[in-house]
Amino acid sequence: METLQWKKILIPYEQAVKELEVKFQSIAHEYHTLNQYSPIELVTGRVKTISSILEKARKKNIPLSCIQDKIEDIAGIRIICQFVEDIDKVVALIRERDKKDLWIVEEKDYITHTKASGYRSYHIIIQYPVHTALGEKKVLAEIQIRTLAMNFWATIEHSLRYKYKQNMPMEINGRLLKAAEAAFKLDQEMSAIRSEILEAQELFQVRSNIVADIMKNIENLHVTGNLSEAEDIQRQFLKLWKEGDLQKLKNFNQQLDMIVQIYDVQSLS
Ligand code: GTP
Ligand code: MG
Repeated sequence: METLQWKKILIPYEQAVKELEVKFQSIAHEYHTLNQYSPIELVTGRVKTISSILEKARKKNIPLSCIQDKIEDIAGIRIICQFVEDIDKVVALIRERDKKDLWIVEEKDYITHTKASGYRSYHIIIQYPVHTALGEKKVLAEIQIRTLAMNFWATIEHSLRYKYKQNMPMEINGRLLKAAEAAFKLDQEMSAIRSEILEAQELFQVRSNIVADIMKNIENLHVTGNLSEAEDIQRQFLKLWKEGDLQKLKNFNQQLDMIVQIYDVQSLS
């Protein structure tokens, strides 16, 4: 096939990957803006290269005229989560969209049914409509949902498999299986302390919001011309901040809110 024709074939896939990336990244962003924990940690996407498409077609005996129907992962999206529990939430989010902006074709649960290689992930194959200059086109896309640990393992395994092709040394194969077991245990450990981790992340978020609020208040005092007071307050804040007591910071910020309000009222009258 000519290069130009390939380009034409791949355009809708490129658009699908871009759109899906934006859609899932927006969900994560929304959670963060609302100060809520996001089940989505990271979203990546890629269009399969021409050489890997050809390679896969050859391996699976797919005629070139059928690649768009038979190769499901020309468009690929990867959603990375912190915890195994998050994967169910992401799957639910995707199922909610079924027959709205995407059509689910198949789900493959390699988490309940770990592959012989040790591979774990949840796959959803979808049909996704893109609107190109030449009209609407439905393309297949593969969404892989996995934890950070699953992703770490799969990335390493993939590059080793690529390096050795069919001739993976027994010893390395054994080590990969052990590493898969370790990644599985890591996910289990993380789940066991999930609530602790979530609490710590939430506290971090709360603290950073309070500090941002205090800074805004101090800035306001500067703007309204109360320079010496602002500097005094800044010193007090630094002292409290070094102490690191969240409740004291909260109280301090409440007092500041009142002070700023009083100056606001004065400046109005
Ligand atoms: P291919 O494995 O891509 O030929 O397609 P398939 O029809 O066998 O589908 P499957 O669900 O097995 O694999 C789809 C995708 O999942 C692959 O393209 C990989 O990205 C990923 N995958 C599946 N198995 C493994 C594995 O053992 N190791 C790694 N690293 N990735 C895997
Ligand atoms: Mg496979």
